[in-house]
Parts: sequence; C-alpha cells; structure tokens
Amino acid sequence: MCGIIGVVSANNVSETLFNGLSNLEYRGYDSVGMCFIKNGKLTVRKGVGKLEEVHRKVNFLKLKGSIGLGHCRWSTHGGVTENNAHPHVDCRKRIGVVHNGIIENYSELKEMLIKKGHRFYSQTDTEVIAHLIEDNLKNGKIEDAVRNALKKMEGSYALGILFAGSPGKLIAARNESPLVVGIGDNENFIASDVPSILSRTNKIIYLEDGEMAVLTKNEAKTFDLDGKEKKKKVHEINWNAEAAQKSGYKHFMLKEIYEQPRAIADTLNGRLENNHVVFEEEFGLTDGFLKSIKRIVILACGTSWHAGLIGEFMLEELAKIPAEVEYASEFRYRHALLGKDTLVIAITQSGETADTMAALKEAKKYGVKTLAVCNVIGSSITRISDGVIYTRAGPEIGVASTKAFTTQLAVLYLFTILLAKLRKTLNEKQIKDMINGIRKIPLQLQSVLDEDNEILKCAELYYNKQNSLYLGRGVNFPIALEGALKLKEVSYIHAEGYPAAEMKHGPIALIDKSMPVMFIAPHDIFTYKKVLGNIEEVKARGGIIIAVATAGDTEIPKKAKHTIFIPKTLYTLSSILSVVPLQLLAYHIADRLGRDIDKPRNLAKSVVVE
Ligand code: M6R
Repeated sequence: MCGIIGVVSANNVSETLFNGLSNLEYRGYDSVGMCFIKNGKLTVRKGVGKLEEVHRKVNFLKLKGSIGLGHCRWSTHGGVTENNAHPHVDCRKRIGVVHNGIIENYSELKEMLIKKGHRFYSQTDTEVIAHLIEDNLKNGKIEDAVRNALKKMEGSYALGILFAGSPGKLIAARNESPLVVGIGDNENFIASDVPSILSRTNKIIYLEDGEMAVLTKNEAKTFDLDGKEKKKKVHEINWNAEAAQKSGYKHFMLKEIYEQPRAIADTLNGRLENNHVVFEEEFGLTDGFLKSIKRIVILACGTSWHAGLIGEFMLEELAKIPAEVEYASEFRYRHALLGKDTLVIAITQSGETADTMAALKEAKKYGVKTLAVCNVIGSSITRISDGVIYTRAGPEIGVASTKAFTTQLAVLYLFTILLAKLRKTLNEKQIKDMINGIRKIPLQLQSVLDEDNEILKCAELYYNKQNSLYLGRGVNFPIALEGALKLKEVSYIHAEGYPAAEMKHGPIALIDKSMPVMFIAPHDIFTYKKVLGNIEEVKARGGIIIAVATAGDTEIPKKAKHTIFIPKTLYTLSSILSVVPLQLLAYHIADRLGRDIDKPRNLAKSVVVE
C-alpha cells in the first residue's frame, strides 16, 4: 500500500506536496519521493526511509515547480531501495509516474517493452507504466497515451502522471485503489485520501474504477477510458483540516481515544427520534427486506472483525436473527452458501481493505443484499454496497483503530434496535431502555477517560512484561481479543485474548507470578459470577490481575491487584466502555517503551493489498 498526491497550481507546490505526504505516511513509509516539472524538465527526488529522513538528505522544500507529484511507499514489488522508490520515469525521463496498487501483468508488459528497446532501472511493477505510456506516445498527446496504456494494464492502480511535454497537465486514473480529485482555487489536486488535501480544499470528486482525470490549475475534467467526458458530483466534505492534525496530543492514537465521546455523539446525532432509529438515505434497505432477513453474515478484518463479533451477539440476542462473522480473508476463498434472504454486512473503517472488498464481491455473486458499516465517505466498499451506515468517527490516522471501533459498535447497536423494532422481538419499553442506554454513552465514556491516571500507573508497573493474557466472556470476550490486539500492535508485547472459561483448557499453564492477566468483568446477569470464579483460578496461581469492573463492584477489588471502573450500563453496551481502559493501557505501555505508536513497525493503516 502506498500514498499518492499531486498538485497543479499557479504557485510553487513543494510545501503542499510535503504536507500532504506527511498526512499520507500512514499508508506507507519505507521510501518517499516527489517529482516536479519546471522549464519543460522533469526533476525527481526520492530516497529510502520516512519523509523526514529523506527530506534531511534531499530537501524536498527546496525544489520548485507549479506542478508536482508525491508518493510514500509500502513495498510490494521490488525491495526497499532508492531505485524502487517512486516517482518512476520512462527512458527519456520526461514522464513521471506515482502509483498505488499492483499491476498484475507487469512481467509480460516488461518483457514486451524490453524487446522494443526500453531500459528499466527498478524491480517495480510501476516502472512498466511509465515506459508503456512512453511507448504509446505516438502523437505527443499524453491523454491518449495514458488511455492506451491503461487498456493494456491488468490489476489495481491509483495513478498520478506528469509529462514534461505538457507541463501544465496532471493526469490521474483509478482502478480498485482509492483516489480523489480536489478542486481548489487556482489549483487542483489528486490524493489517496481526503485529509491529505483538506488544508487546501474540501471540494472533492471521487474517481470510480475505469475513470481518468485531467487536471490543469483552472479545471478538472473526468473521462472514461474511451475518452468520453463524464460530469461528476463535487462533494463538500465537512471534516476540517484540524481534525486531521494532533491538536496538542502526543500521538494520534491518544487523540483518537480521547475523541470517542464526541465520535459516539456524532454517530448518534439525528439518528434517534423519539423511540425510533432513523438512518440516512444511503442506508438503502427497505423495511420489507429488513423484515424478511433470515440470516446475517458479517465480513471484516482485524479490529473491525472484533466489532463484528459483538454485532453478532447483539443481532442474535436482541433482534433474534441468526448471525455469523467471517474473516474476510478466509471468506473470499471459499464458496459459502448464501441465500437471497441473507444480508451481508461489511465492517470497515477505511472502506478500502482488499480482503473485505474481495469478500464482499464474492458475496455479491450470490445476489444477496449488502450493507457497509464504514467511516470513510465515498470509499470503495461503500460504493459497491447496496446500503451504507457511516460511523462518523472522523479521520482516524493512528494505525491502531480506536474510535472507529467504538463507533462501529454504536452503529451495530442502532441497527439492532431498528431490526428488533421492525421484527417486534423487543417491546416498546425494551427499545426505549436501549435508546436511553446509548444516549448516556458519550458522558459515560468521558468518565472512563477520567480513569486514565490509574491506567497510566498500571502501565508504569508492567510495561516491561513479555506476555499478557486478556480474558472476558459473552459480549466482552471480543473486547479481550481487541485489548490483546491493541497491546500487540503498538507495544510489540505478546498478548492473547481468550474466553475466560477456556483458560482452564490450556492457557492456565502460562500463569505464574510474572503474568499480567486483564479481566474484562463488568457486572451482568449472564456471566459475572462465572468470571469471578475465573479470577480466583488466576489468583490462586499468582497471576497479576488487572480488572475492568462496573462502578460500585465490591467483590472484584478484593481479588484484583488493580481495578479500573466503568459506569453501569446495559450488558450489550458494556463493551463500548470496557474497551477504552484497554486502549489506554496499550497506548501508555507503548509510549513508555518509546514505540512509534502511530506507525508501528510492519503495519499500515489500510491493508489495500492481499
Ligand atoms: O479499515 P478496516 O477496518 O477494514 O481495517 C481492518 C484492519 O486492517 C484494522 O482494523 C487493523 O486490524 C487495525 N490496525 C487494528 O487496530
């Protein structure tokens, strides 16, 4: 996965590209580069490392030009070397290309181009694109050359292209990789995401697969691959640029954890009317269909998959619809049996995860209805789904997902209420209690955040442990998984999430005096007493118990070494509150260890390759 940005302007564009790339680094940071056209000449600067490191060597801001491209790379084809960094150029160094995606037939194309005399200097699939455009540049018209080259390429791409022979034109094209066009004042943009250009414009065109855009500083036109112009809607995005910055927090992850009360409030805003749940027009599913659903299949990856597990619990418990959750990466390669009365829900923060996208496409082959629960407006997955419920978490920049997760839970909860009401599986009083319950969540989240000092103390005591266990039951078992995932990804400490009662079937052998064991144990009528028993079992073996318990609980503090309290809420809502101490614990431990929290090693924010 990579990030791309391009600008054509009346002014120098190096700073815009630099700032845009620093916002895009979550997409890839093993190498970075820029190219510009000035006086009819293409200049390229690139190197291995993060933006700041490469900038120290090549001084990107010294480069001048009113049209340019930038790229941050996360390698797929070809190792992490300067030659493999983007932009790539053709033989005559007149065409500059930045690319996010994978050209699947690049070997055959490369062989064909080498036979024709093209000379390659990198191992990437992207370099093929520059040479292929050069090969098609018969009449000197760059648009025709790009169009003809695209017709020969197979695979995924978001492309930015410059040609020294047309110094005021920026060409973009998209197929199965995210790309937006930004409309500015005397300047226009392309980018992999909206936040990277939000400081310059909030007017956005979403390119579709098979579309090409031609930008000059004064206009942006969109075409299909036959060169026919397409008029596209310009969306006004109401995220501000500041929302995409850290606002004084040390890391995006911490800022995003603290934004959760606001994010949940936004996610509920306008969707609770009297005793009803109302979604916007893009929800797209009729009452008739919702009443007829016999089964729900949820597809997701990582943290979104954990949200799916909680969704499954809510849907079965309250709306009485059989539900199951699949890893999208597994689902895409098996031939599941889906009937027309199945609803398939894709849960995804980014809306660009390759496995979730492929799984959804696989599901669509059965003619089922599909719904996306997604945070990014206009992202690829929302565009192939029959309906969408947006999570309104705002831009999530930290690689570790936090506010996207809790807003996904809020949306799944609202969707469950809607179904339960339509299908009459809950009475009016129960629906009212559920709505009152979620209305309180933003304030209750704030009081969980107020426990941060206690959590920081635990982090100080245990940051040097090598392993830890996270245990929960029922609706809080997925929270054990999520807490363990958060710790692993930002601190690199090994952690395992388990259903508390399963511990005695194996993991209990790991427990000794040095093992921290996190119990997620809010008070409930289902499993609370059983979890108390599990806590005793760990205590008897000397484990260090840190518990998340309901305010007022007097039993757990007697058994646990540390207790973090969350406010009393409905059972199905407890997971929205109980995950927050675990997010903070992972954050503080990682910070104490000096980890690169917002960009943990080996990870990228959206996994847009398989
Ligand atoms: O954008 P998505 O929700 O589809 O992403 C899915 C996972 O890649 C993501 O949740 C990942 O597990 C996060 N790094 C977890 O914090």
